[in-house]
Amino acid sequence: MSISRRDCLLGFGALLAGGAVSSIVDGGAKIVHAATPKRFEQVNGEFGWKPHKLDPKECAQVAYEGYWYKGYACGYGCFYSIIGVLGEKYGAPYNQFPFTMLEANKGGISDWGTICGALYGAAAAFALFWGRDERTPMVNELYRWYETTKLPIYNPGELAQGVKGEIPGNISNSVLCHISVSKWCHEHNIEATDKKRNERCGRLTADVSQKAVEIFNRKIEQGSNFKTAFPVQESVEYCGSCHQTQGTDSNWAKGVMDCTPCHSGSEATQNMFKNHP
Ligand code: HEC
Ligand code: HEC
Repeated sequence: MSISRRDCLLGFGALLAGGAVSSIVDGGAKIVHAATPKRFEQVNGEFGWKPHKLDPKECAQVAYEGYWYKGYACGYGCFYSIIGVLGEKYGAPYNQFPFTMLEANKGGISDWGTICGALYGAAAAFALFWGRDERTPMVNELYRWYETTKLPIYNPGELAQGVKGEIPGNISNSVLCHISVSKWCHEHNIEATDKKRNERCGRLTADVSQKAVEIFNRKIEQGSNFKTAFPVQESVEYCGSCHQTQGTDSNWAKGVMDCTPCHSGSEATQNMFKNHP
């Protein structure tokens, strides 16, 4: 009897997932190392982890704590609240993930203010279980909810690690860290380096986790019937009818972020290099 390399890889992964087994026995011979896999071949297959439902409220609290843990912040907190909690409950392979990888998300990826790190943390967690076609409706729901919801909502009460009490909210209309944070700071006259801003992002990480886990659970229940609950943004529909439609002479716009914050000629998007204080 022989085991093909593929069976071996899959079997090895499954055994690892099931418990502390470190070798496979094939006809009496102990195989300690799987053969070198072919390029791009992946242990457990692609998008191959098994999802288990989680408690959104529990995950939200873990996300908040993860945000503050050594200052690893939003991406780490949100990702850990899903994959780390799965690891706490089910062991391998979830608990083998090098979670600090997600620390790169802090400040919209190493302080560049691009995508909100918590949102990327959730999308990355989804991608351990579902490939693009299955995952995109999940990401769409989370991201559109984020664009349109007054955040933060979560309040850790006495367990607050930055600033206790009420923290004001805002609707950012954007998934970008820069726009989300800067609008909030401007609206409430709070400096971006103020501890209240950290507290705001910590709570928002909990909110993103809670919503992400609700989506995760619904996906487990509904499988490929999962549909995004939010319609496409009006701006994306309208502007996209020319700028994202094949055959128009203006099919140039990449992405489905709400176009409004950047292209509405708001006070903040005027030319600030001229006649500016
Ligand atoms: C009916 C089709 C149509 C719609 C709807 C439309 N556009 Fe355009 N847009 C165009 C065309 C055509 C051009 C090129 C105009 C030119 O080059 O003179 C253009 C140009 C632009 C430009 C480049 C302007 C410049 O001169 O640099 C931007 C940015 C843009 N559109 C954004 C938007 C946004 C945002 C929306 C939604 C609010 C939108 N457009 C809706 C057709 C459309
Ligand atoms: C985060 C801000 C932001 C968002 C959101 C955004 N854009 Fe843009 N867009 C820009 C910037 C900045 C440029 C580059 C402008 C330049 O050429 O200097 C640009 C370029 C474009 C261009 C090419 C025009 C040119 O002159 O270079 C089009 C068309 C356009 N955007 C349409 C859209 C549409 C449609 C949406 C919504 C689906 C959208 N944009 C969302 C900021 C944004």
